[in-house]
Formats: sequence, structure tokens, C-alpha cells
Amino acid sequence: MVNLVISMYGCDFLSTRYLEPDQVWHIIQLAHQIEKNPASVDGKLNRKKLASLFFEPSTRTRLSTETAAINLGAKVNGFSGIEGTSVKKGECLAHTIRMVEGYGYDAIAIRHPLQGSAQHAADVATIPVINCGDGGHEHPTQAMLDFLTLHKEFTIKNNLDIDKLKIAFAGDLKNGRTVHSNLLLLSHFPGVELHFVAPDIVGLPTTYKDILSSRGIDFYDHGTELASVIKFADAVYMTRVQEERFGGDTQKYLEAATAMRLTLPMVQAREESGLVIMHPLPINKFAGDISSEVDSLEQAKYFDQAANGLPLRTAILYAILDPIRQRATDEAPKPENLETCLKKVRFKKDNRPKKQKGQRLGYLDQGTVFDHIPSGWGYTVMKLIRRAVPEEQKNQIEYAGELQGRSGLKDIVKTRFSITDQRLLAKIAMVSEDIRMSEIHDKKVRAKYRLSLPLMLTDVAQCPNPKCITAPEHRENSPHMSFYVDGSLRCRYCDTVYTKESVLKRNDGLVR
Ligand code: NCD
Repeated sequence: MVNLVISMYGCDFLSTRYLEPDQVWHIIQLAHQIEKNPASVDGKLNRKKLASLFFEPSTRTRLSTETAAINLGAKVNGFSGIEGTSVKKGECLAHTIRMVEGYGYDAIAIRHPLQGSAQHAADVATIPVINCGDGGHEHPTQAMLDFLTLHKEFTIKNNLDIDKLKIAFAGDLKNGRTVHSNLLLLSHFPGVELHFVAPDIVGLPTTYKDILSSRGIDFYDHGTELASVIKFADAVYMTRVQEERFGGDTQKYLEAATAMRLTLPMVQAREESGLVIMHPLPINKFAGDISSEVDSLEQAKYFDQAANGLPLRTAILYAILDPIRQRATDEAPKPENLETCLKKVRFKKDNRPKKQKGQRLGYLDQGTVFDHIPSGWGYTVMKLIRRAVPEEQKNQIEYAGELQGRSGLKDIVKTRFSITDQRLLAKIAMVSEDIRMSEIHDKKVRAKYRLSLPLMLTDVAQCPNPKCITAPEHRENSPHMSFYVDGSLRCRYCDTVYTKESVLKRNDGLVR
């Protein structure tokens, strides 16, 4: 085990995606210490106040988080459910958060139905935000208590490291936020082998499969073959089919909810000993994700899991709020300045007018030429520019398609004015990073740039996921839509991954 203490003081706890293994072990060790000797953290957060904002139902997460805060000496206030709050009067999340912060709270624990809501709250707040579940996206404190459970059951009891385990996740892998946070957490431990059991309609989104692959984690799909997976897995993590995420589509919900169930005979059919059965709870008594005879088996660890929530959440609150600790340096990437959209390229100094490209459009005295636009996309670029500029400039844009370039057909767009709007340039870069932009003054090319996407795009496009907090229909005073650019585009709030092309098309209704 690593002894390096990486401070998390003052940090948000939004996701397990960027947690370093050292930070994970730090929290796990703290939780063990707190469990052995609860008095060691008595009153450590004496003058602190936690706002507990649960916009969605919760039993375990809310009670254990609030109890953890109370045990540390902090005061807790907030709400459980939106009944009786100004959400009923149409208040947006950003306003609720600003107001809560104004009352002098030191941290916010939030559960909310929209994906990315915890990130949005953290963007607005200057105090730490703990994500207690944001829609079908993530539930990082649950994943940490699940990890604590695995550590106790395998490492402490049987001297088996977690990165040697075969762990199966079954049930609603699409909407189950606990699953997502567990996978992102386990993705930091190469060697672990993951097995997925789910009907197709609630299968694991590719977003998570992609990150597992990129971090070198082996995983296998088993359809709904739960019985066969139980025969070899070290741990099986069952989940409830999340009825509340089906938007009232009862037929689809029932199809998913009745697809499989963990039963006593399945467990009895296993020859090897050592199975650990987990579930974040609640088990839906109507659907019966796990039949009730399993509850009394020694292998069933879900009540232990729930109990582990208390020391684990105590450890997280303590790590984040204890002022003796220093600020962590290792955080998720921060939004980058859009200035990075233009990279200057060198060009021959002898720029007589004949060097201007796209003669079919005539020469420019002043303005901008976008060259090397992939064939068929010039019209899109022209439309993007038309939308961004004032009325009087709209007819000063020309486009020529299917010109013969050195490496095949290309399109060109010219404008009779210069373009400095970084957001517009980012949008054009989304069409293609091969595009070159030349600035023309007095009929000469004065500067040439390569368009390139910055690490993060802010406010240039809308995330197409309707369950994302940034979707306009939620009227959440929307946070700037941001995409991390890593080959494809990943929404900063809901983590859904898109191709550049699909984002462009959905945003502008532009078809090639
Ligand atoms: C889970 C949740 O809310 O995501 N419960 C929990 O926090 N322990 C799982 C669920 O509701 O199915």
C-alpha cells in the first residue's frame, strides 16, 4: 500500500475519473482508521457547516453523509426532496447554490436528477461540492465505499489485491451511476478484469468502454448470462434497473427489469467458494434484482457495503474540509483559453496577389481566406460564418467547392472582412483541423494560421444529450457547454462522447 498522502483539502469530489490511486488509498486508509477509532476525528470539523441538498430520493447516501458530518462535529442543514423548496417556483440550480453559499456553508453535498449538475454546482460555488449522484451519470462516494468493501473482503480477509480480481457488474449499466463511478475508479487499477451482464437496452455506454480500453483494462460482455458469470467471478455487483430514467416508457423499463435476477440456485450452483455479492441498494422489491433468500447468505455483503458508507464518507468530508491539509495540485483539466484556436504557420514572404487561392472567387483586397476545407464542407463553413456576423457582412462571404488541391479536392471560403471571433474559429476548427486561415491586407497574405481545437471548447456547441444539465429545455441558466477535445468530443458535464461531425450537425442543423 502506498503511504504518500495526497491532500484533497478544498477539493470538489465530483467524479472518480481523475482520482489518483494515491488519493484512493489515502481515503481508504482514513476510513479504516476512522472505523477502528471513531474518536480520533471527533469534533475535527467543529465550526463547519454542511449543506445537504438532495433534489432526488435517498436513504443511505443522505443519512450516512449527514451522520458523518455530525460525527465530525459539523452542523448540517438542507432538504430532502424538492417539495417545500423554491425549485417548485422554478428556481434554477445556480441560484440555489449561490444562495446556499451566501449563508456561510463550508461544503455542499448534492444529489440532483440531471447529469452534470454536480459539476455545474461546483462551477458556481467557491466551496467544495460533493457529488452524491447526478442523474444517470456518476456517484463517486458510492464507488469509494464499494472499493472499501472490496478491500475489506478480499485484501484484508484473504490477502488478495483488488487489481487481481474478476468483478462482474450486472443490471442497469446504462443508467446506473454507481456502476459508472465504479468503472472509472477501477480503471486506475490495471490488472482488474471486468465482466458486464446486462440486456442490450441498458448495456454499458461506449463512453465507459472507451476509457477502460484507453487505460488498458480487460473487459468482457456476457449478455444476460448471469448464472454462468456467477460461477467464476470473485465479486458480482448487482444493480437496480433505474425506472426513473426511462421517461415513463413502461414497456422498455419492464423489458430491462425482467431480463434477469440473481437467485439462490445460481449462487448454490457455484463450485468454488469466495463469491462476494454486492448491490448499492435499494433492491426493488417489485422487480427483485436479487431474490430475498440471498439476503441471509454469507456471500451477500450489501448491508456491510451500506455500513461502510459511514466511515468512508466521514473520511471524504474530513479530507476535504480539515484545514490542516493543503490544496491538492492534481485536478481535472481546467477550461483553456480559446486563443489556442489559431496556430501561426510559416509561409513564403513573397506574397504577390497571385498567391491568393481560389481564383474562381476573385482576389481579395482585405479579408480572410479559409483554405483546405475538406471537400463538401465549404458550405457549412460559410453558414457558420454567416450566423456569427452582423447583417451587413452576411453578403461579403463567398464559397467555392470541389477545387483541385495538391492532395485532392477541397473547398475554399473567403470573407471581405477579418475574423477574430475565437468562438467562430473554434466552430470552424470543429469542421476540420486541416483548415488554414490566411489574413489578407492590401491584396497580400499577411499571416497564415492553422486552425486547431483547444483542449477544451467552451460555449461553442450544445451537448445533444437531453438529460444533460446543459440542455436548453432545463432552463438551468445554462452553464457554458464545454467539450474536452481528445480525438472526439466529451461533454464536460455528462461525459457523453460524440464525434465532432455529430455535434456540428445537431447544433446547426447543417447537413453536408
Ligand atoms: C444508488 C443511487 O442512488 O444511485 N443508491 C445509493 O446511493 N446507494 C442506486 C440506486 O438507486 O439504484
